[in-house]
Order: sequence, then C-alpha cells, then structure tokens
Amino acid sequence: MKILVTGGLGFIGSHTVVELVNAGYEPVIIDDLSNSNIKILDQIAKIIGYKPVFHQFDLCDAQAVKNFAGNNPDIAGIIHFAASKAVGESVQLPLKYYRNNFYSLINILEAYQGTALNFVFSSSCTVYGQPDVLPVTEDAPVKAAESPYGNTKQIAEEMLRDLVAAGTKYKVVALRYFNPVGAHETALIGELPIGVPQNLVPFITQTASGKREKLTVFGDKYNTPDGSCVRDYIHVVDLAKAHVAALKLMEQDTFEGYDVFNIGTGNGYTVLEVINAFEQATGKKLNYQIGPPRSGDIEKVWGEVSKSTRKLHWKAERDIDTMMSSAWAWENYITQNPL
Ligand code: WQD
Repeated sequence: MKILVTGGLGFIGSHTVVELVNAGYEPVIIDDLSNSNIKILDQIAKIIGYKPVFHQFDLCDAQAVKNFAGNNPDIAGIIHFAASKAVGESVQLPLKYYRNNFYSLINILEAYQGTALNFVFSSSCTVYGQPDVLPVTEDAPVKAAESPYGNTKQIAEEMLRDLVAAGTKYKVVALRYFNPVGAHETALIGELPIGVPQNLVPFITQTASGKREKLTVFGDKYNTPDGSCVRDYIHVVDLAKAHVAALKLMEQDTFEGYDVFNIGTGNGYTVLEVINAFEQATGKKLNYQIGPPRSGDIEKVWGEVSKSTRKLHWKAERDIDTMMSSAWAWENYITQNPL
C-alpha cells in the first residue's frame, strides 16, 4: 500500500518512512527541502535498502499538488508532517506560519477529497498550553495557543474534524506529539537542526561535541522538583511507530471518522534531569549555565497515554538513557560524516 509522507525528509518524517517500510508499506515522499536535507534520502536508503520515491515541491503550490494527485491516484494514506514548527520563530513571523501550515494542509486535503483515504495529522501537545491537570488527557480543554505555531495545530485539528463531519470519505487520526528526541539505532538518521538549535537535546549534543560553547538552562525557579521545566520526552522511533499504529487503526472497519491521541511516554523529566541522563548515558560532562526563563515556555507538561495504548495498541518502549545515547551517537556520526 502506498503511503504519502509529506515532510518525509524531516526528523520525524524520515524515521516514519523507515517504520512504514518495516511494516510493509510503500512510502512516497514529498518535501520542499526548506527545513531538511536531500542527503537524508540516501541515509534512509542505507537503512531500508532502496531509495524511496521522492518529489521536491512546495505543498503551498496548489497546482503542483493537484498535478501530483492526478499522477498518483493510488495513494492509500497520507501522513502529513510538512509544516513550519519553531515555536519562537512563529511569534516573530506569524504570517509565514499561517500561510505555510494552512495552505499546505488545505491543498493536500482538496487534492485527495472524495477518495477513501486514511489521514494521519502531525499535531502537538502545544495545543494544551499549560494544562490545569497533569498528566494531560486528550479531552483536556484546548487552551488559547501560546504561539502562532500552536494555533496552527489547534485550527488544523478543527478543520479536520469539520471535514470528517461534512461526510467526506477521509478517516483522520491526529497525533499530539510531546517532545521528540533521539535518533535511529543505526545513527544514520536523526535530528538535523539548521543553524543554532532551538530545541534542548540537539543543543546538548552540539555542546558536548564542542560545536557550542555551553548550554543555557532557561530558568530554574519554576514550581518543579529542581526548578527547571518539565517535558515528556519521547524517542523518535517510538513516535514513528505510532504513525504506523494510526494507519492500522484506520484500516479497521470499526474505526469511525476522527480521533486524537497523546503520543508521549507518560513520564516527565526536568531539563536538569535530562542533562544528568545525558551525562550518565555518554560519560560526557556537559558545560551549562542557568539563564533566565524563555518567553512562551510553559512550566510543566507530560501526557496521559492510556488511550493510545488501549486504542492504538501502541506504547513507547525506549527509555531516557536510549534517547540520550542515540542522540549522542547521531551527533558523532554527523561530526565525522557531514551531510
Ligand atoms: C524543552 C525544554 C526549554 C533549549 C518542542 C517543540 C514544539 C513541540 C513540543 C512538536 C524547555 C528548555 C531548551 C535550550 C533549555 N513539538 N531548553 N535550553 O519548547 O517543549 O517544544 O516540543 O510539535 O514544536 O518546539 O521543546 O526542546 O525547545 O525545550 O533550557 O537551549 O528545554 O526551556 O523547558 P519545547 P524545547
């Protein structure tokens, strides 16, 4: 079965392409390379044994998307990763985020409307904002987004619900990711931030490898065990496997229209605990300092994931040690083999 993976050369997309092949699917990748590297296609080939079909174009180009759909009517499912995703940047450039994230989604949905197609949407725990109750469940109130990025995820979920309610033949699963980290066990694919990393773990590994002088911990006066923020970090391979589980769920006749799932481990770690886990896993001493809180950060969030286990028959298996050691192995790989 052919599965279209938009943004398929990105961090989560590339790992999902591998897991699709492992599950017997045939991935077809679209990526505009605005936030990914074409060499990841070769890296994926080293893992799966062949180069997946790849098309480079911008999903905001409605005609290009229509042409693709016309030439590829046999797509059985779509996993839609393609979007801008930097929380901080979205505050500076809101129109870029609204334009890119909505145009690309609407174009792909319009192009395949009318086909009985399974659609997996890449959503985010950012839709919860700072939850009132932790761990946060899928039926927690979706709060006013803390950023345009988070707002695009909230509104996209509503668009998909409305589409299903309107009686289109789409089946939709939205996966609310917590914090994806780590890398494939081969260390051939992983996170490839462009420029200075926004996210914690690539900044840790680049500091440990000497590419960055030191890590700044954004605040240690929060109401948490050691004062630093808490997040639910999940290994990217576990996250990738959740997308396969979502397709399998929609392939069941019993699945109705639309559903949403938390994709996390159910455990929260503070920033300082992640640093300690990295040092334990790698034997590296990390150079860091405590700095002021980062605006837009929420204090603490971790997921209640029993619904994903019960209905998706999926559960995260990799622990924080594996997350850190795999991230470090990938950092060493790209230091020795610049892409
Ligand atoms: C994690 C913690 C920072 C960098 C991300 C994505 C977002 C969404 C959820 C998918 C925070 C702290 C970070 C640094 C630090 N994913 N930190 N020093 O903000 O939770 O959001 O996951 O949709 O798209 O951006 O992740 O890795 O940026 O931060 O202290 O140099 O690490 O304050 O507490 P975040 P992050």
